[in-house]
This record gives sequence, C-alpha cells and structure tokens, in this order.
Amino acid sequence: MSDGQQLRIPGPTPLPPEVVAALSKPMINHRSQEFRQLLASVSERLQRVIGTANDVIVLTASGTGGLEAAVANTIEPGDAVLSLCSGYFGERFAQIAERFGAKVAYIRSEPGQPIDPAPVAEAAKKQRFTAVLATHSETSTGVLNDLPAISQALHAAPERPLLLVDGVSSLGAAPLGLADEEYDIAITASQKAWMAPPGLAMLAVSERAFKRAEVCRSPRLYFDVVAARKSASRGETPWTPAETLLYGLDAALDLILLEGVADVFARHRRLSARLRQGLRDLGLSVLSAEAWASPTVTAAFLPAGLAYAQFQAHLEAAYGIQLAGGQGALKDKVFRIGHMGYIADEDIEYLLQSIAGTLQHFAISRGGN
Ligand SMILES: Cc1ncc(COP(=O)(O)O)c(C=O)c1O
Repeated sequence: MSDGQQLRIPGPTPLPPEVVAALSKPMINHRSQEFRQLLASVSERLQRVIGTANDVIVLTASGTGGLEAAVANTIEPGDAVLSLCSGYFGERFAQIAERFGAKVAYIRSEPGQPIDPAPVAEAAKKQRFTAVLATHSETSTGVLNDLPAISQALHAAPERPLLLVDGVSSLGAAPLGLADEEYDIAITASQKAWMAPPGLAMLAVSERAFKRAEVCRSPRLYFDVVAARKSASRGETPWTPAETLLYGLDAALDLILLEGVADVFARHRRLSARLRQGLRDLGLSVLSAEAWASPTVTAAFLPAGLAYAQFQAHLEAAYGIQLAGGQGALKDKVFRIGHMGYIADEDIEYLLQSIAGTLQHFAISRGGN
C-alpha cells in the first residue's frame, strides 16, 4: 500500500501510483457520454463508501468550499445556528455561518475532548435552531466526535434542526455512523482519506437539505446544490468540472473498493491504534484518549523543551518525514500526524522509528549542552 512517500501531514496525503497515472489522462468533452460515465462512476461509488443513499454532489473546491456550500444552501441571515466546536476546524465552520449572518451559539469542548451530547440536548430543547454544525474528525486535536450521540441529542428538539457535518478528514476512512434521515449535509474533501489531489469537495445531501436549499435566500451561484443536483441528473455539472481530479478520484475509488470498505476502515483503526501505542511507548502523550481517538489524525505533545520547528526539521532531514504542527492554542504544544488514505503498517513502523531516532538525537544534543 505504500511507496515510501513520507508526507504524513493530515492532507494532502500521498497518492497511489494508479491515481498519479490517472491524472495524466487527456481532457474530454464534459458534455459527452464519456464524462457522464465518469461522474456517475464517482458519485455512485462515493455513496457506497460514505454508506449513504443521499445524493453526493461533487464541487470543484477544497474542503472549506464544501463547508461554505453547506452553509450557503441552508442558512440565512438571522438564523439561529448551534456550533459544536472541538477545535480549530469547528471554529472555522462556525465562522462561515457567522459570515452568512447566522446568530451562532457555541458549545465547545476542551482540546482533546469530544463534544458532550448532554448540553447539546439541553440547548436544542430550549431554543429552535435552523442548523447544528458538527465536526466528525477534528483534525486539530485528533478527536473523533460521536455523531450518533449528537444526532440522538437533537431528538430533544421540538423540531429537529438540520445537522451539517464536517467529515472532511473522516469520510473515506471511517463510517459516518448516521442513517440518511439523521444528517442533512456531510462534507468531505478529495485530499484526505480519498487518496486524490486537493480540489474536490464532496457533499452528501439529504432530501430535507435540498428542500431547505430550494427556499434558502442566501446568495450563491457556483455552490448551488440544487443546480448541481439538476445537472447531475443529466450526468453533468453546471460549470466546467475539474476532470483531472475526477479521474484521480475515480482511480482512488477503484482501490478503496478493491480493498473493501470495511477493510479500509479496519486498516485505519489498526494503524492509528498502533501509532498511538508506539508514541506512548516512546514516552509521549497523545492528546486524545483512546475512546474517542480519530482513526485518521493523531496529535501528541512535544517533549518539554523541544520546539516543533526543531523536531520537524530533524525528522525531515534525517528521515524525509513531514508532519504538521499544532494549530490555534495548540501551536508549539503538539505535533500532528496524518495517517489516512495511502498508508500501510510499515509506514507507521517507519514513522515510529524515525520519531524515536529524532527524540534520541535531541536527548543527545541536549545532554551535550
Ligand atoms: C476537519 C477539517 N475541516 C475542514 C478542513 C478544511 O479543508 P481545506 O483545507 O481542504 O479547505 C480541513 C482541512 O484540514 C479539515 O481537516
């Protein structure tokens, strides 16, 4: 599963050679039967991997564009929105809703902790919200939020709000865990577990969300999911599609389905558990507890006195590995490892050996000071 690429940031992730090859296919007429087949192949198989019968709309955008599309199609100025923030990406989703004029109420968790569903139920009971924004895998902390528990908490509401889910760094590697009627828009992006380059946002959209989009007065043209659905029913996109990226994603879907969706999910669980154990064996503390650890990204505390820049510089110089630093309040406190998509057991072992070597290097040089 691996060819020695050591890009271990939480996206973009390494590309399998089959995907790289697909990216060199010639352009085709996007109003042709050949394109219709490509779009149908991608959308139907995205549904299978996400585990939904809801329509999956593919937009030319990064994950943030997908989040913005979800908001633009459902939220109007003045709407009450409940934002469940367990980190940096939860805050970004909320920021988009604020930019669209929503009145945003926040439920936040401490870094490394998931959202507690009890206050969500309380809030939903007290106030009518148009939408609830939730993050599945919070990439800044390595926490996987319990979406079924959050969805359950929303049953306390007299009228269930729309549930918009940021699944950017989870889908393709983990099940959404929600039935089609329990969520309204789930967003993911090509450069994460999907083993494709950045540039495609994929949105699974419920009937309820389409109905809401039909009447939602927030302005949008490029990101109009109703227009996208109408075009998709003819096998097309409203605007010129990113054909190259669709070829890449199509080839990646071949690989995911060849391995088997359940096996892909199991591999992510196995590799992430091994990584966390290995980090602990090296004396490092993982930010998230096992019970809610993300299968795609892990944040661990830097050893005292070791700056992230030094740590990363040595990992890259000595082992060719690139990790990511902490974000927001966790900047310079944690380092983050992306382990999604095109990654195998031996990559995790190499990563752990490299981190061990790097810790040893600094222990030696610190000892010498
Ligand atoms: C959970 C989550 N949401 C949103 C985003 C933003 O996606 P993009 O950088 O593709 O716009 C990311 C990217 O890391 C993410 O991990």
